[in-house]
Amino acid sequence: MALPEVDYIWMDGKLVPWADAKVHVLTHALHYGTGVFEGIRCYATADGPAVFRLTEHMQRFDRSARMLFMDLGYTVEQMVDAVKETIRENKLPACYIRPIAFRGYGFMGVDPITSPVQVAIAVWPWEAYLGEEALVKGVDVGISSWRQRSINATPPGIKSSASYLNSGFAKIEANRHGYAEGIMLNEAGHVCEGTGENLFVVRDGVISTPPVFDGILEGITRDSVMVIADNLDYPVIEESLVRTDLYTADEIFMTGTAAEVVPVRSVDGHVIGDAGPVTLELQKAYFEVVRGQNDDYKEWLEYL
Ligand SMILES: Cc1ncc(COP(=O)(O)O)c(C=O)c1O
Repeated sequence: MALPEVDYIWMDGKLVPWADAKVHVLTHALHYGTGVFEGIRCYATADGPAVFRLTEHMQRFDRSARMLFMDLGYTVEQMVDAVKETIRENKLPACYIRPIAFRGYGFMGVDPITSPVQVAIAVWPWEAYLGEEALVKGVDVGISSWRQRSINATPPGIKSSASYLNSGFAKIEANRHGYAEGIMLNEAGHVCEGTGENLFVVRDGVISTPPVFDGILEGITRDSVMVIADNLDYPVIEESLVRTDLYTADEIFMTGTAAEVVPVRSVDGHVIGDAGPVTLELQKAYFEVVRGQNDDYKEWLEYL
């Protein structure tokens, strides 16, 4: 996907023109995957642009960085302010936000500790990640032949650049098989997540989703949807799921900042069907919340 370029990128403390936000070819992270990042969305609301759960995203960013012994050099509050400044200066009413921290140019070798830490924030207008039609009609997905990265290898709980090599394998395979998304199982055969989304199953009115210990990213959309579902009086449980739970589900949907709330129409050719009533209700509620149309969730919106 070609990026819709905007004016500025925040890089190491200052805004630079989009075209000047460059790194050296010997950047450590380019060779060894030593980067951590976030994906956040800013929505247009009646009160102006609002970033959804910005502080929680920057807290996760900070946690990811600390896991790699990376000192960002900025507090969570400073990063929150930098995100707001970047959106303001690019004059965007709504956008996707990509903060990244990585080991830069300076030293080579596997040990990243001596390489300098660089931090950047890019923003750009980004429509629905899996397409507008997917939000309405749902997507066809396949179980990947690739296993989810292990919690004791490249931990899925950290949003690291290295982690997405695994997602990339599964995404390439899914696309080549004609699926919109690949679902990864862990080595025990438990369902984990899509390559960029968490996953939910609805059966007999009960909503379930894989637990963190099965090896998933603790998605902020996942958490938001669980809170919304609970407030709508749906039973929501975290439980290990296997592939047959997907084939026999009443409804399946995926959640993510980029993908938002996307119904799943089929898994490996097993037809789940058009978006079900629970999925549609949660999707509608989610969009109302992020667009500032539900006062009960105002604290999740951070205005510029
Ligand atoms: C592998 C993976 N799982 C889950 C998610 C959903 O996380 P969030 O809702 O915080 O965007 C993402 C997206 O960032 C992801 O890349």
